[in-house]
Amino acid sequence: MCGIVGYIGKREAEPILLKGLERLEYRGYDSAGIALMQATPPSPRPEVTGRGKQGGARILVYKKKGRVADLEKLLKAKKLTANSFHLGMAHTRWATHGEPTDANAHPHLSNSGDIAIIHNGIIENYLSLKKILTEKGYKFKSATDTEVLVNLIEDVKKNAKVAINEAVRLALREVVGAYAIVVLSKDEPDTLVVAKKGSPVVIGIGKDEFFIASDATPLVEYTNKVTYLGDDEMAVIKNNKLTVKTIKNKIINPYIQKLEMKIEELEKGGFPHFMLKEIFEQPRSIKDSMRGRINGKTGMVKLGGIEKLQDKLFNAKRILILACGTSWHAGLEAKYFFEELARVPTVVEYASEFKYRNPVIYKDDLVIVISQSGETADTLNALHLAKEHGTTVFGICNVVGSSIPRATDAGVYTHAGPEIGVASTKAFTAQITVLLMMCFLLALKKKTMRKTEAQKIIAELENIPGKVEKMLLKNEAIRNIAKKFKNAKNFIYLGRGYGFPIALEGALKLKEIAYIHADGYPASEMKHGPIALVDENMPVVFIANKGASYEKVINNMMEVKARKGKIIAIITKGDAKAKKIADHVIEIPETPEPLMSLVASIPLQLLAYHIAELNGRDVDKPRNLAKSVTVE
Ligand code: F6R
Repeated sequence: MCGIVGYIGKREAEPILLKGLERLEYRGYDSAGIALMQATPPSPRPEVTGRGKQGGARILVYKKKGRVADLEKLLKAKKLTANSFHLGMAHTRWATHGEPTDANAHPHLSNSGDIAIIHNGIIENYLSLKKILTEKGYKFKSATDTEVLVNLIEDVKKNAKVAINEAVRLALREVVGAYAIVVLSKDEPDTLVVAKKGSPVVIGIGKDEFFIASDATPLVEYTNKVTYLGDDEMAVIKNNKLTVKTIKNKIINPYIQKLEMKIEELEKGGFPHFMLKEIFEQPRSIKDSMRGRINGKTGMVKLGGIEKLQDKLFNAKRILILACGTSWHAGLEAKYFFEELARVPTVVEYASEFKYRNPVIYKDDLVIVISQSGETADTLNALHLAKEHGTTVFGICNVVGSSIPRATDAGVYTHAGPEIGVASTKAFTAQITVLLMMCFLLALKKKTMRKTEAQKIIAELENIPGKVEKMLLKNEAIRNIAKKFKNAKNFIYLGRGYGFPIALEGALKLKEIAYIHADGYPASEMKHGPIALVDENMPVVFIANKGASYEKVINNMMEVKARKGKIIAIITKGDAKAKKIADHVIEIPETPEPLMSLVASIPLQLLAYHIAELNGRDVDKPRNLAKSVTVE
């Protein structure tokens, strides 16, 4: 949550920073702000929001509640002198401490106006630090933890009489919490300081220029050389030189890697929203998740990322899956196939709950953490707890180089490509694809599946992108269904067995982007409570494909129909019985049940998308949400 971006080099900083903010806006959109270093102020001096002594360099800060576009308008009106800023930083906020207001927007200046900071994370001990600083006479204009940190840095700098990087380092030793920060000081107008603990930071290395960002998306058009800061590390960039050290002051050699990302992946490519583009990318993204990893003809499954440690998977007495939100739904779907096909008991836990109780973790458990962003704080913390118990942890992540894959023992990237719409779609189907491959690998090793059986189902998995393609042809028909239900106030989503996690995921998509209350439930549980909600105004979405519980689901549909509920059913192609009962049907091709979610979730994504879009919702940036939840 929150996006940070920084630049130091020869180019004009402002457009680079604003473009970077646009790319990072999915991380939070409560406010946006920019700080620009003016090394030699022109005369007469322009209006500034940051103070500073006459003559020397100054830091100009502009910030505003609202979107990046609002900040851009503000900057346009200010008519800043062209080509005069070559060092700066910018921030897009998801509010934690303090409401979304201009005053709480980042960057924050220290009391003297000499030091500016942007921050992603939470300073947990900010109240006690604030008390100490208040007693020393510091005043605060905002309700944020970040303003406390910048004044702590100022206080340390003043007392210890040290350079800005050393003041940051010493101040951070007093801080409890998570942060990715960029700091500028007007006394050193050629220096940019970055530090990280818990929240992500990547540094892009260009020719005589450096780019800082929360993820690699703002860097991609400038450089493909990047280094990710580790926890308790900081970087100082000065005189075209990058120095990386630990908070304990040990110089380290940064690991520089090649960025594999294409600029087209970051643009809407003619679609009105990233979410729709990402739904339509799924034939390709599912293919990319499988590429080189399976072969239906030979029954080969090869997951390079876990190969060295795959015995841990083969010998696991239990699989423990930890994740949040949509990733948790992918984990729940996996429980069904891991237990059915590989016969390994599988427990799926909300990572957010797991950390704060006293969970039973065995050494011979195999823990799998699932995260699109690789940065979710709850998942990261649950991962650390599992590791403290000596358990092997595998990761399934989408964002390469993010914190979770770096903290796991081994893992498999989903290779779905950047997911920018806040509601997760292609990452979900990619996660299930990877989990299926892991399951086949295990089932083959444990011989709970015969080779011929495995070959058949692997070949079926290879056919899934084609089936997803066919589902996408139903987009217009699904939009027509959405038109009929766009004014509904509530929805129920029901499924049994493999259909249950799909029901949960369908309901979550609708809630988060259409702001319509939706409850996902096992169809079998309906008569134990939720059926009381059913009347002629209640749309009920059924996952009613032909599978093990088909007849039972049909009975549940009859029960809803008897109470005049409106039924939208995902059914297997040609199923006349289900068609007769339902008010609206969306047919899916016949698919083995363990793979069914990859096909059946597509119409539910489209249904939620169209209901949201028809209601004029901000589909890619739904209210109160952020793409990567880096606070607990
Ligand atoms: C829903 C959604 C969230 C995320 C959850 C976990 O569409 O996007 O529920 O799935 O915040 O995020 P990751 O997978 O990044 O750990």
